[in-house]
Amino acid sequence: MLLHPSFDINEKGHLTIGSLDAVELSETYGTPAYYLDTDAVRNMCRMYKAQFAAHFGGNSTPIYAGKALCFKKLYAIIAEEGLMADCVSPGELHTARAAGFPMERVFFHGNNKTDGDLRYALELGVGHIVVDSPDELAALDSIAAELGKEATVLLRITPGIDPHTHQKISTGNIDSKFGMAISTGQAYDFVKAALDAEHIRLDGFHCHVGSQIFDIDPFKEAAEIMLAFVAKVREEYGYLAPVLNIGGGFGVRYTEDDPQIDYEDNIRRLGQEFDAICKEFDIPKPSIMMEPGRSIVAAAGATLYTVGSVKEVSGFRNYVSVDGGMPDNPRYTLYQSRYTVVNAEKADAPADYPCTLAGRCCESGDLLAEGISIAKPERGTILAVLVTGAYNYSMASNYNRIPRPPVILISGGKSEIGVRRETYDDIIELDS
Ligand code: LLP
Repeated sequence: MLLHPSFDINEKGHLTIGSLDAVELSETYGTPAYYLDTDAVRNMCRMYKAQFAAHFGGNSTPIYAGKALCFKKLYAIIAEEGLMADCVSPGELHTARAAGFPMERVFFHGNNKTDGDLRYALELGVGHIVVDSPDELAALDSIAAELGKEATVLLRITPGIDPHTHQKISTGNIDSKFGMAISTGQAYDFVKAALDAEHIRLDGFHCHVGSQIFDIDPFKEAAEIMLAFVAKVREEYGYLAPVLNIGGGFGVRYTEDDPQIDYEDNIRRLGQEFDAICKEFDIPKPSIMMEPGRSIVAAAGATLYTVGSVKEVSGFRNYVSVDGGMPDNPRYTLYQSRYTVVNAEKADAPADYPCTLAGRCCESGDLLAEGISIAKPERGTILAVLVTGAYNYSMASNYNRIPRPPVILISGGKSEIGVRRETYDDIIELDS
């Protein structure tokens, strides 16, 4: 096993993904290409489902955050595994619908849903709309009235927590574009407005503290603040929230330097914290929800590239350039995220060639990794970047008019296309 169960090395010294030879896969599907071990995705779904039921209470179901990775076949898997889905845009809603995802199991998020988005969500019969602001609440109330419907909502609340993660992926601070803050008092007015709105049914509260979080402390802090809020709202308005959704955020191991994470134990301990806090505030435990994205798909994914050049800049560094880059994985450019890179043809050889992994874009910042060492590649070598299942395909672009790679699904020793490779004609398809 290399870092995660989906990756190993076979007798040829080749990397395997879901037990299939990465070099042979590249001959079949070309490079660059994303791979996803869907058996590993299902295992994570089952783990979350079982642990939530055991430790968060019977009604608690994990909600898969589709922003991490979203395409029809994946939503079909998530539906089969009995999870709910968090969609953040009408595009994600549309994908869920096209995949036959039960819309009553969808939570619709976003800090700026347009009237059109809200109407679309209500028409589709989305189960919950997570309302971000009083403006949105008023718009939703009148659109629901127009459609003769009642909108079931959670209110997005800002607990004011610093999760000690990368600033760009931390969202629970008071100074945030998301939600309404408790400490400024605005969250209470928000609740009052929701309770007063005629076509709104308030089902509870939502918060999200951040992403790539390795221990339970930020979640525990969120639970304390949010459950105190639930208790105060009951006292002020006589309203007891049935649901508390504390968002996503469990971390994933990208490199050997990241900590090992025991999800079962984290969820078990978090469950105990919820019980203790509810007791402290003397409130019945709401249905606890969480929205894992990254931890369900990241470790099941890898990207395979072909090396185009190995350039040794004397006195500086060695650049290994591949046929992808920031258009298929912008995370190093955006967040300096670190990855494990493997020479897929010599996965068992010493990783002793220090280099920078560069993409093919016309931009010097287009790098995938710096300060890494791999078994020395040459033009034509297949390289793998591991743990790319989350926030890679979903954040991909056509910068430099580079077609997006396909997503290949692997299950039970077989592969199939989940998303086909974009063609040059796809690239000009929308041009008039
Ligand atoms: N729920 C809400 C409301 C969220 O904002 C997010 C992530 C999640 C759930 C899922 O969090 P996860 O379990 O995946 O950590 N593009 C960044 C990540 C941004 C995450 C934004 N919100 C990255 O590549 O690291």
